[in-house]
Amino acid sequence: MSVLSEPIRQEIQRLIPRYPRKQAVTLPALHLVHDEYRTVSSEAIVEIAELLDLHPSEVHDTMTFYEFFKGDGQKLGETRLWVCRGLACMLRGAYELIDHCEKKLDVRCGQTTADGKITLEFAECIGACDGAPACLKDDIHVMNVTTERADDLIKDLKS
Ligand code: FES
Repeated sequence: MSVLSEPIRQEIQRLIPRYPRKQAVTLPALHLVHDEYRTVSSEAIVEIAELLDLHPSEVHDTMTFYEFFKGDGQKLGETRLWVCRGLACMLRGAYELIDHCEKKLDVRCGQTTADGKITLEFAECIGACDGAPACLKDDIHVMNVTTERADDLIKDLKS
């Protein structure tokens, strides 16, 4: 039985004519699967490879080159909370903020809370240096994040 739903399979197949080679669909396909399942399992890698006439190792190589994707045993939470640790944010307390969030959420960066609500990550510059220290709540910038603001943000995401 397929781990990829029929709509996801169809969506991947719909992308194929838009690219010069099937291999070029690897990254968009990984994003589709990751968005839908919050992880890309080994079985999903095999199925993506079949759809794109690739060897599973080629899909796996692309997936692991970008540290963005979660694989087996690493399911993302409902929200991905990125704390920037780029230079501007570092100078304005990013490491203390990361420390605070890890304690508050009882996870290390890269892990998901026990309730499955939040995956905490660190990021390099997220393009919001004027609001350092900054976070990304999925793809939404949150600027000037004090530990108090982080607490509010976490409370909001947990509710
Ligand atoms: S260094 Fe954090 S947003 Fe640029």
